[in-house]
Amino acid sequence: MINIAVLGYGTVGSGVVEVIEKNHDSINIRAGQEINIKYVLDLRDFPGDPVEKILVHDYNVILNDPEVKIVVEVMGGINPAYQFTKDALLAGKSVCTSNKELVAKHGAELLEIAKEHNTNFLFEASVGGGIPIIRPINQSLTADKITEIIGILNGTTNYILSKMTDEGEDFDTVLRQAQQKGYAERNPEADVEGHDACRKIAILTSLAYGRQVDYEDIYTEGISKITNADIEYAKETDTVIKLLGMTKVKDDVIYSMVAPFMLDKEHPLMNVNGVFNGIFIHGNVLGDTMFYGRGAGKLPTASAVVADVVDAVKHQGTNIMTIWEKDKITLGDIKDFECRFFVRVKDTNSKTHIEDVFGEVTYINSDKVLGEVAFLTASMKQGDFDKKIRSFDLIQRIRTTL
Ligand code: HSE
Repeated sequence: MINIAVLGYGTVGSGVVEVIEKNHDSINIRAGQEINIKYVLDLRDFPGDPVEKILVHDYNVILNDPEVKIVVEVMGGINPAYQFTKDALLAGKSVCTSNKELVAKHGAELLEIAKEHNTNFLFEASVGGGIPIIRPINQSLTADKITEIIGILNGTTNYILSKMTDEGEDFDTVLRQAQQKGYAERNPEADVEGHDACRKIAILTSLAYGRQVDYEDIYTEGISKITNADIEYAKETDTVIKLLGMTKVKDDVIYSMVAPFMLDKEHPLMNVNGVFNGIFIHGNVLGDTMFYGRGAGKLPTASAVVADVVDAVKHQGTNIMTIWEKDKITLGDIKDFECRFFVRVKDTNSKTHIEDVFGEVTYINSDKVLGEVAFLTASMKQGDFDKKIRSFDLIQRIRTTL
C-alpha cells in the first residue's frame, strides 16, 4: 500500500478523491499496489463528508509523515502551492499537480529538485485538463523536432466564441450565460484576456524545446474585442474565430503568441468547439498529430492527476527524466511573425488607398455589416502590417491561418 495526500478539496481535489474511489480496483492493478488517501488538506471543514476523518488543516502533518510518499497539489495559485510543492520534493515525496501557474513559473526549478531527490514532479493536468499532452511531448514525440504547436487551450473562451458563432449572441451576453452555467469564472479576465492560455502554451513550449519560456515574454491578446461583425466576416471567409496558443519555429527562431485567429476550415482544430480543447502538433518526422478532449472540469482534470499518481507509484525511487532547463529561450520578435491579416476599416478609406498601401487584397462583403470595408491582406510580417495600417481608420484586425 502507498499513502498519498491531497492538498485542496475544491473541484479538482474532490474529483481526485472520487476517481480513486470509483476506479479503485483498476487503478490499483495498474499502480501495482493499493493507493490510499491518508490525508486531505484544506482550510475548510466538511462536516458529514467522508473526507472529514482524514482532513487536516496543517500541512506539516503531511510533510512530516514519512508514510506519505506522494502529494497531490490541486490548490491552484502560487502561494502556498509553490512552497508546499518544493518542501514535499525536498523531503523526497513525489508531487502531482494540475496547477498551471505553478508549473509555468517554477516548472524548471521543481523538476530539478525532483531529479536531485530521485523523485517526481508530474503535471499532466496543467495543460488541456484530461487530454494527454505533457506525456506525449515528453515521451512519444521525442524522435521529432517539433516545429509547430497550435492549441485551443482555454475552454471558457472556446465556449464563448462557439456560442457567438452558432447563436449570434454578443460577447457580453455569452460571457454572462457562461458565468451563470459555471463555465466562466466570476472574474473572467484570466480566461478572456488570454492569460490562462498563455501559461499553457508557455509550458508546452518549454517542454517541446527543453528550456524555460517565460510567459511574460509571450505576446498575448484575448477575445474581449471580438464582435458579432467579426464572426459574420469569418463565416463569409469559411473560417472560424478561435483563441489560439501558437508556437512556430521559422529559420531556427521560436515564435510564441496567444491571440484570436481566423482558422481556415481545412485545419484539424476547426471542429474543436464548446468547452473542448485541442492541441495540434507538427513534428518534422511524424508530420501532423492532434490531441482532443475536455480541457477542464472536475473528473477530466482528476483523471490526468490520478494517472500521474499511478506513474509516480510505478516510479518510486526513480526520476522520470524531463528536460526543461532553467536557462531561458529568447523568443522571436512578434514583429517578424508572418500571416495574412483580416482587416476592417471605415468606408471613408478608399479601395484605391487600400490597394496602394497593401497591394493586392481580397475584399470580403457581408450584408449584415455596413459603413466599412473588410479585406484580407497577403501574408506579411506583423511589423510591416502595423506600419501600413497607420494611415487607416482601423475598426478591427485579426490574424488568420489562411
Ligand atoms: N479556466 C480554464 C479554462 C480552466 O476555461 O479552460 C482549465 O485550465
